Amino acid sequence: MIPHIMVQAVLQQSVAGFYTDLVTRPTGRAVRENIERDLLPGTIAVMDFTGVGCLDYSCADEIVAKLVRDKVKVLLLRGLTDAHREAIEPVLAGAGLAVLCERADGALEGLGASGDPKARADWTAVAPPLYQSSTFTNPVGSTAEVLYSRYGNNPNQVDIGRRLALLEGADAALFLASGMAAAALAHLAVLRPGDHLLASEWIYGGVYRLFREEFGKLGIDVSFVNPTQQRTWKRAMRKTTRAVFLETPTNPLMRVLDLEPVATVCKAEGLALIVDSTFASPVNFRPLEHGADLVIHSATKYLNGHTDVIAGAVAGTDQVVDEVRRLMQVWGQAIDPFAAWLIDRGMRTLTVRVRRQNEIGLAVAEWCAKQDAISKVHYPGLPSHPDHEHAKRILSGFGGMLGIELKGGVRAAERFLRALTIAAHAPSLGGVETLVSEPRLTSHASLTAEQRAQAGIPDGFLRFSLGLEDPDDLIADFAQALARH
Ligand SMILES: Cc1ncc(COP(=O)(O)O)c(C=O)c1O
Repeated sequence: MIPHIMVQAVLQQSVAGFYTDLVTRPTGRAVRENIERDLLPGTIAVMDFTGVGCLDYSCADEIVAKLVRDKVKVLLLRGLTDAHREAIEPVLAGAGLAVLCERADGALEGLGASGDPKARADWTAVAPPLYQSSTFTNPVGSTAEVLYSRYGNNPNQVDIGRRLALLEGADAALFLASGMAAAALAHLAVLRPGDHLLASEWIYGGVYRLFREEFGKLGIDVSFVNPTQQRTWKRAMRKTTRAVFLETPTNPLMRVLDLEPVATVCKAEGLALIVDSTFASPVNFRPLEHGADLVIHSATKYLNGHTDVIAGAVAGTDQVVDEVRRLMQVWGQAIDPFAAWLIDRGMRTLTVRVRRQNEIGLAVAEWCAKQDAISKVHYPGLPSHPDHEHAKRILSGFGGMLGIELKGGVRAAERFLRALTIAAHAPSLGGVETLVSEPRLTSHASLTAEQRAQAGIPDGFLRFSLGLEDPDDLIADFAQALARH
């Protein structure tokens, strides 16, 4: 039997009196949960919007896109108004999804990624306009929030937030001026003076410095644990612990952490679980589906993907994202409209980029594993990786990040780097160009050689961020660089 969901009925059931308002949170979430309960994975479903006269449609798109991604193979939408279509179409297209839509005359048409979207008006821009404006005109006498780009309500800023929320399966998302801004404000949104933060010790060095050098001044105590030892999380918690922070996959060993046991403890103790998911991108891993409360990204990396923007993002519940927005406004951390526009452009190709980088990552890792000059390869897609089985279960792809250990140590690493012609020797990651860096001089420069070796990052360790070059060309470049003596 094909499930037939009357959206109006679900709305009435979920929150009495609110059936015309599909977006009032947490109504949106309640609606989604009601709809999801009625659906079996992999089904065909009909979703009927007849009689739903929303005042604000910004949730219809989320519901539909989430259903298509997570549950149903075919979704037929009926009774859509033009306003519904306008809300649904761009997000479906942005997320690479498609659904069927039944027109009033009974004819079917595709909507979204591969469908035939409603024709645009003549002479309109195909690419979204850039609103490089700090401020916007106000209706005289209006008491509504003014439009001002520091408030993050410029259309370029708003659009990318909606898109990321969809990709992460979050209520809301917000882009900020950098990944560090995202890390700082996500924590400040949930922590107060006197609170304790429990953090993984395998995190980006900048975030580590933020915790060590700044949080104490705000009265927030931070301690660190080895994230692979499940029991240490619980043991390290204190009465004052209010949040847990971790990064997965980790840098540069690409350890894929099991979120669920940590999330279970956090739920039981009422702690916020914040996850830096920069390395995975929402294409390969969506932490909220595994119990995280808040996801952060350095959008400088995969979300933008073109090595020309510094930005960050936070995704989670409306309540927390609203608090991050408030902090962003008063601490002045909004993303510039042009950076937002570039991220919008970058995110259009996120899925194809990351999927291709997954393929290249695996090809390069398998090649590296066969080289005599390389003693170890750290890539979760290889059976030799300690988290391979777990990674297979929870990741949609193993990623384009890879670590190798050269037998010849520092000298061999420097020879290799000097000889590269396609890959560039540069820090950062997630772009279309292949970058190689040495953690001893970048992320782990503050440790001694012994401490690094103990952490599994001996000298001669190289980290690769694979781009979108031809994998045969890349491998040829690595082969000639390895052959240098
Ligand atoms: C995992 C991770 N998180 C956060 C950051 C900080 O991001 P940004 O440089 O955009 O401030 C980085 C930067 O390298 C990172 O690698």
